[in-house]
Amino acid sequence: MESLNNYLFKYKGYVFAKGETTGEYIDSLQHFEIRDGDVFLVTYPKSGTIWTQNIINLICEDAADKTKFPNNLEKMPWLEYREGRPDYSLRPSPRLFATHLTPTLMPPGLRDKRGKQIVYVLRNPKDNAVSYYHFSLVWAKLETPKNFEDFLQQYLAGNVGGSSWFDHVREWYSKRDQYSILFLSYEDMVMDLRTAVEKISKFLEKNLDDAAIAHIVEKATFKNMKKDPRANYEFIPGDRLLKPQFMRKGTVGDWKNTFTVAQNEMFDQIFKERMKNIPLHFIWDLDAKTN
Ligand code: A3P
Repeated sequence: MESLNNYLFKYKGYVFAKGETTGEYIDSLQHFEIRDGDVFLVTYPKSGTIWTQNIINLICEDAADKTKFPNNLEKMPWLEYREGRPDYSLRPSPRLFATHLTPTLMPPGLRDKRGKQIVYVLRNPKDNAVSYYHFSLVWAKLETPKNFEDFLQQYLAGNVGGSSWFDHVREWYSKRDQYSILFLSYEDMVMDLRTAVEKISKFLEKNLDDAAIAHIVEKATFKNMKKDPRANYEFIPGDRLLKPQFMRKGTVGDWKNTFTVAQNEMFDQIFKERMKNIPLHFIWDLDAKTN
């Protein structure tokens, strides 16, 4: 286990927040038993995790959920952070988990493709970096960046929780055939939320009628979700979240308000090198759609 700074440590090539998990617990996931019907939401941090978490939770909602779970985090906890919850093997099915882990650290049983298991959401890395920068300013357990340039260097070096965006996306994408996995992009979700909700519910084999889909879409819009105390993460205590802004802007192309021309050129160059052979198309802003 290698310490990166006061807030982060590296274990098996992946960067974790200190105090939130241990190498021993991460190793134990190699023996984590996968059940039919388990659902994993996998993202690199700041890619739309809590948004998709809300959608999946609503799709899988049962009548008792509101009394069983005070909020979305308790219904779909993070696999790598137990945070004082009982052993996840004691959780009744159907179990829902969110995770930022890479395939190597995930329970190997997932590769058996049992059930419909993984929803992977990716976001263009310029907006992702800007979102992560703002998050680092308000999450008490992360180093406060001096400025965006300082953060961007750490981000590009993979010295942030979740390690490198490039490695995360490359690894999941190149191993996709080993899993039962649905890839979605944050930008597609912004452009057409209804289609995204339909895709996820179909993938999870839930037969929802038009009214149920419309209800979920309504609850998952940025405006409505921001007001929803079960979904907006304002339930995170103030000693961890200095300012409740998990739901900050929720747009595509916000990076243009932050990146300088030089940062953008440098980023494009690195993107080109690191994503070669990965035929994923990213939407960088809503006017000029693909790269
Ligand atoms: P911004 O910081 O760009 O606003 P994560 O959940 O992985 O931490 O990702 C957080 C990002 O998702 C934030 O991006 C947040 O605003 C955005 N987000 C959360 N809910 C959303 C929604 N309903 N619609 C659009 N974006 C949403």
